[in-house]
Amino acid sequence: MKRARGGVRACWGLAGLTAAMVLLPAQSAAAQEVTFARDVAPILYENCVTCHREGSFAPMSLLTYEDARRYARAIGYRVANRQMPPYHVDRTVGIQSFANDVSLSDDEIQTIVRWVEAGAPRGDDRDLPPPPVLPVGGAWQAEVLVGRPPDLVIHSTPYTVPARGQDQWWNPLVKWEPLGEERWMMAYEFKPAYPNGLKVAHHGHASLSFPSDQGMRGGVGIAHYGVGKGYEIFPDGVGMKVPAGEGVVDWNIHYSSLHVEDDVPNDVVDVGIWFYPRGETPEMATEGEVLFRVDGHNSYDRPMNRANDILIPPNGYQVLQGVHVLEQPTLISSFRPHIHTRGKEMSMEAIYPDGRREMLGKVDDYKHIWQLGYEFTEDAKPLLPKGTVLLFSTVFDNTADNPLNPDPNQWVVFGRRGPDEMNHMWVNITYLSDEQYEEIRAGRESTPIAQAR
Ligand code: HEC
Repeated sequence: MKRARGGVRACWGLAGLTAAMVLLPAQSAAAQEVTFARDVAPILYENCVTCHREGSFAPMSLLTYEDARRYARAIGYRVANRQMPPYHVDRTVGIQSFANDVSLSDDEIQTIVRWVEAGAPRGDDRDLPPPPVLPVGGAWQAEVLVGRPPDLVIHSTPYTVPARGQDQWWNPLVKWEPLGEERWMMAYEFKPAYPNGLKVAHHGHASLSFPSDQGMRGGVGIAHYGVGKGYEIFPDGVGMKVPAGEGVVDWNIHYSSLHVEDDVPNDVVDVGIWFYPRGETPEMATEGEVLFRVDGHNSYDRPMNRANDILIPPNGYQVLQGVHVLEQPTLISSFRPHIHTRGKEMSMEAIYPDGRREMLGKVDDYKHIWQLGYEFTEDAKPLLPKGTVLLFSTVFDNTADNPLNPDPNQWVVFGRRGPDEMNHMWVNITYLSDEQYEEIRAGRESTPIAQAR
């Protein structure tokens, strides 16, 4: 099957379904008929229908045979090209061990491809797996994993998102009621309103600012959202500190409604916060997702006023790199590139103090609609000594070969709208003491990280 897969992938990318069918080994399709009921439905139920169902942000439901049959060709194409489920990690380089790896196995892809090739047969309904358990629309997703509803819910203020609108930003400042005592966050969820808010909220952030007397530097970035990333649960023993007193929630919501037919009136986003029990201080304090800019501003706490390095010629490319020196030992738990429609690749490498270089994570098929974060599994989380340099590299493709390119004849510069560019990566950072670093390192020596990869 390995050989066939290579052929299928290369070929479908270029010429579409018909040519791929010719390449498939005929005997494998003939050996046993692949049916929807027995072979395909389990794959769709497991990997697709959490999104492809009524009331979700995906374009169509894939719950029934009729649904799937109507889209069979598109399903075959998207699956064979590894465009669905959305997961854009370069499979040839860097760490491959992600807790939220949703990609299909080669066998699953082959099953779907063979089904499409065979004319999408229904099979016997008695072979169908039990209907999938779907997430309840509007429910907190993290609640299931944490085991209880959020301890605190905060709300943005209402904003009416116009039908077929351009990019819009909604940045209300909302009072943060004092907690009365210092608390440690263990999880958050950024939840657009169900069902209509989900279709227009593209990404967003909620940060907390406190008066300087509470010992906070720039505030706390409590919650981050992007299509494909809704919540975050910190590992056991890791938390984010929230001061006791009064503060302000600074909302930054990016709405996008170009393809939405009706106004979405008075949209409100909720953020749910889960705390560690009162009085419990986790061993490690995380910064959460920290923004690393690769656009001429390497410092993440400067205002977003200029980003002169982005200058992409018409019908051309630009490669940009940025570096950031880690002043403390660091554990990285996830990364999430943020570039726009010309953005094609983005990677994060470590240059260790001894000069060794290692690719940590790379996305080679970036798609602006998706704001996916890739969460390393526990043993694969990069553990970096003090003095390590993080090197970020981005490739922008402003040619007509880039299918998402709105106009290859434009010069492209920095800007917040989708047709302009941005260039940063959100990286989940936990700074460690020397002792904590040594402890994790010693623990890993018994299970070498190389094996986890
Ligand atoms: C995380 C949510 C999510 C998952 C999981 C997911 N999809 Fe999608 N899918 C989307 C969204 C959103 C779009 C539209 C945007 C895009 O094309 O990226 C889409 C687009 C598609 C399209 C193109 C539809 C068209 O009109 O051409 C197909 C086909 C598809 N998905 C099939 C699948 C299959 C098959 C699976 C499982 C193997 C799957 N998807 C898993 C969200 C998802």
